[in-house]
Amino acid sequence: MANASGLAMDHLIPGEFTNASSGTKYRIHAEDGAAWLDFDDPQTPPAKGRMKLDYFLGSGHLGITYLYSLNKYLLESPAAYYTSANGYDMKPGFGGLREMPPAIPMEATCLRCHMSGVQHSDPGSLNHYSEEPFHSGGITCESCHGDTREHVLTGGKAAVVNPATLDPERRDSICMSCHLEGDVSVEKDGRSPVDFKPGESISRYLSYFVYVSADATARGVSEVEQFNTSMCKRASGSKMSCTSCHDPHYTPPAAERVAFYRGKCLACHNQPSFVREHHPENPDCTSCHMPRSKAENIPHVAWTDHRILRHPAMNLADASPVRSDDLVAIFSPSSTPRDLALAYYAAAMEGHSSDRERAYTTLTAAHQANPDDVQVLRSLGILAGTGGDSQLAGELFRNVLKLSPTDQTAASNLAVVEVRTGDLQGALALLQPVFNRNQDSLGLAMNLAAVECLLGNGTAARSTIETALKYNPGSRELTNRLQQTSSCTARLK
Ligand code: HEC
Ligand code: HEC
Ligand code: HEC
Ligand code: HEC
Ligand code: HEC
Ligand code: HEC
Repeated sequence: MANASGLAMDHLIPGEFTNASSGTKYRIHAEDGAAWLDFDDPQTPPAKGRMKLDYFLGSGHLGITYLYSLNKYLLESPAAYYTSANGYDMKPGFGGLREMPPAIPMEATCLRCHMSGVQHSDPGSLNHYSEEPFHSGGITCESCHGDTREHVLTGGKAAVVNPATLDPERRDSICMSCHLEGDVSVEKDGRSPVDFKPGESISRYLSYFVYVSADATARGVSEVEQFNTSMCKRASGSKMSCTSCHDPHYTPPAAERVAFYRGKCLACHNQPSFVREHHPENPDCTSCHMPRSKAENIPHVAWTDHRILRHPAMNLADASPVRSDDLVAIFSPSSTPRDLALAYYAAAMEGHSSDRERAYTTLTAAHQANPDDVQVLRSLGILAGTGGDSQLAGELFRNVLKLSPTDQTAASNLAVVEVRTGDLQGALALLQPVFNRNQDSLGLAMNLAAVECLLGNGTAARSTIETALKYNPGSRELTNRLQQTSSCTARLK
């Protein structure tokens, strides 16, 4: 885990490829002691340039992605390295675009599992970091033992967290905080998982939800979920945990792997007759009881079967979940109806449109229970807006901004409402500060430029587009709009 991330030059794999659908050529290489991503998009007008890569993310087990920062906006390279293909291609989901993809913002919630000492982005910005976005690459001691600098500074007086002495929920929270995602996870009111510290319960920060499938044990995406369905875990209870098999300070090299895990199994399965008679021909317990699945090339999905089944023939690949429509909380003792409402909302936003109605009803109830819950207000506002009730949406977004003045989602959505009702100055006043904090956002730039254009200020619209083009050099939408800005002045003046 120590190699989970770091400086780009410490793990740079040079390579190049051309993305077939856009015709863009990418090259990743080192020059003058720095790592670079060159891009060359032959469209008219062409987009050609380079980004200096700062960090790598991923040990390379599955693949590696690189991060760069531009005026302190932290962004992800659209080109990723795939270990299985031994080469570069577009980042997952971006292969079919007809042009270079827009800037990909790196949020702290994404960094938090891959780096150590991850900081929040600046208030009101998705991915602008005035300070360093994180203290160090990789998963360091701090990720599991808390702030060890404090320990050193106080000459050992400030305690380091020892996971072994925590109660089971807090102990398990450490691994869970990074190894569990669920189908949907929801931030508790006013909290961000970026603030989670070892020694706390992750359920203070997140509630996790999954779609219940017909066979609950067949489901299982993460190691955490699968392991908890295993007979070993169910029969052993809280005395068994991830560290019954894993040493967080040591990954056994290939040659020791079999003996290492066998030793862990035998710590419990130690009846002499069993050890003597149970498959003496094959010392690798895990080859039969914890086989590897085909999911090996998908990030964020377990590929070693942590259900520890008796009958190894059952393949993980056959157990693809039969998804029902109901979300249930897992490992979230303090989950509330409000969290569930937000989970349905998240599902609805991901295209599960049948959840829209349910999200609306349950969010409305959550709003009545606590009118000051920003996430609930914001989500209801978006549902109202997309459902055509601009007036209600506007009211809800205004309430969000009263409680959280830098909320970029509320401000940008309220601006759209105000454009609809003809209040262009109001929309401008909302959009300008949001864009100033999120200059890499193509969508915000398009909206702000449209308002500036409607107000007859072609110069401002042009400057907005030019700013966004620095971060989205291949965007045809932006270059087309740039051509229109001169005529918008002429028309409205
Ligand atoms: C909840 C924690 C968590 C979050 C959030 C998370 N990841 Fe991961 N990621 C992991 C873990 C753990 C692995 C290791 C493999 C596994 O268990 O699936 C991983 C694996 C990866 C890999 C493959 C690395 C390799 O070793 O080959 C990439 C690339 C990756 N993540 C990128 C991202 C990006 C980009 C984001 C943000 C959009 C993100 N991850 C968010 C936990 C997380
Ligand atoms: C991925 C999480 C993780 C990381 C990273 C990690 N540890 Fe640990 N550490 C643990 C866990 C869990 C235990 C308790 C093991 C057990 O169950 O006995 C532990 C135990 C220890 C102990 C024994 C404590 C005691 O009093 O018994 C020491 C010392 C220690 N770790 C030092 C370190 C140092 C130094 C680093 C950084 C180089 C580090 N650890 C990184 C998870 C981690
Ligand atoms: C801060 C986030 C974080 C925490 C906390 C964390 N992990 Fe991880 N772990 C990761 C990431 C990220 C990877 C993938 C690294 C990669 O391949 O890029 C990983 C990889 C692993 C791996 C596979 C590769 C290896 O290094 O052996 C194991 C096993 C693992 N973690 C177990 C644990 C256990 C057990 C705990 C709790 C004691 C734990 N992790 C806590 C983030 C975390
Ligand atoms: C912390 C103790 C512990 C560890 C470590 C452990 N197990 Fe278990 N396991 C149990 C208990 C308790 C049971 C239930 C009683 C029994 O069958 O012995 C069990 C049951 C099983 C079963 C039967 C499952 C079923 O559905 O009937 C298998 C197979 C198994 N373990 C394999 C393993 C393997 C392989 C390992 C190592 C990779 C392992 N166990 C590690 C405690 C453990
Ligand atoms: C009974 C033993 C056992 C327990 C308990 C266990 N693991 Fe594993 N885990 C393994 C084995 C074996 C592997 C495969 C290691 C290898 O092939 O090098 C593995 C692999 C992993 C990997 C690498 C990705 C993958 O799926 O292959 C991660 C991450 C991981 N475990 C996390 C966890 C977490 C988190 C927990 C606790 C919720 C946990 N494990 C509990 C035995 C166990
Ligand atoms: C060659 C494949 C294979 C290997 C290697 C293997 N097992 Fe098994 N194991 C099985 C099968 C198959 C069963 C189911 C037997 C049955 O249902 O009659 C089983 C059953 C078990 C059970 C359930 C209790 C019992 O006696 O039926 C446990 C516990 C277990 N294995 C643990 C282990 C451990 C620990 C190791 C390594 C020391 C191991 N197995 C190695 C195939 C294997």
